[in-house]
Amino acid sequence: MNREERQITVPQFAAMKAAGRKITMVTAYDHAFARLVDAANVEGILVGDSLSMVVQGHPNTLPVTLEEMVYHAELVGRAVRHALVVVDMPFPSFHLGVHKAIENAGRILKETRCQAVKLEGGMEQAEVIAGLVSAGIPVMAHCGLRPQSIHQLGGYRVQRDERQLLADAQAAEHAGAFAIVLECIPAETAAKITAAVRIPTIGIGAGAGCDGQVLVLHDLLGIDTGYTPRHAKAYANLGKTVVDAVAQYRDDVRSGTFPGAENAF
Ligand code: KIV
Repeated sequence: MNREERQITVPQFAAMKAAGRKITMVTAYDHAFARLVDAANVEGILVGDSLSMVVQGHPNTLPVTLEEMVYHAELVGRAVRHALVVVDMPFPSFHLGVHKAIENAGRILKETRCQAVKLEGGMEQAEVIAGLVSAGIPVMAHCGLRPQSIHQLGGYRVQRDERQLLADAQAAEHAGAFAIVLECIPAETAAKITAAVRIPTIGIGAGAGCDGQVLVLHDLLGIDTGYTPRHAKAYANLGKTVVDAVAQYRDDVRSGTFPGAENAF
């Protein structure tokens, strides 16, 4: 069986909602971690523009470029055999007109082996979503807290305008999006939106009523700068494990314990 036959497709991903099966997504940004995440049998891997913060060390997601997203998506796309891989369209790669958005998203699909793009927005991006979908590019929309609009929103705040959130989700669905990320909105609102649309909702800080969940890998693994956001859960303390392992190696080098005879030729 070849790679394409085994990998989860966009229609299979979208159909999980109707089948009542919860969807699990995690971010990944490089080949090594993408392989490990894929081995855990999650349904979706997101090459998120969060890499701007957790990989590149920027204070927000605005600086990462299309070139850099394509590079990281390529690393991930080369590793994944099972999950559907979705790539974030970075700011402002989909704000320059439908034609330019198709050109940019087309580059992502052509160069990375990934199968879909994600873009932040609902109602105001309906035309772009429809344009991409008409070009055969599957789109995951992203409503609620939109980190690329951080300056306009005035901070990373829970978004509470239920009417607007519902309208955004419905506009994204009507435009042809195959799924919607709901970020940092009240659980009750997310559950209402989930009931109102036929496409899967993927929550992050949106409660258990969504059709699936997505987490930033570094938050999930406990590789951080000492802060796990309220909406995340650390399932490991890999940050400490890494520091302890490197410190042990340092001690072994200093004491002459490493390399041992078994490491020498
Ligand atoms: O970039 C990202 O990691 C995301 C998730 C937080 C949904 O958009």
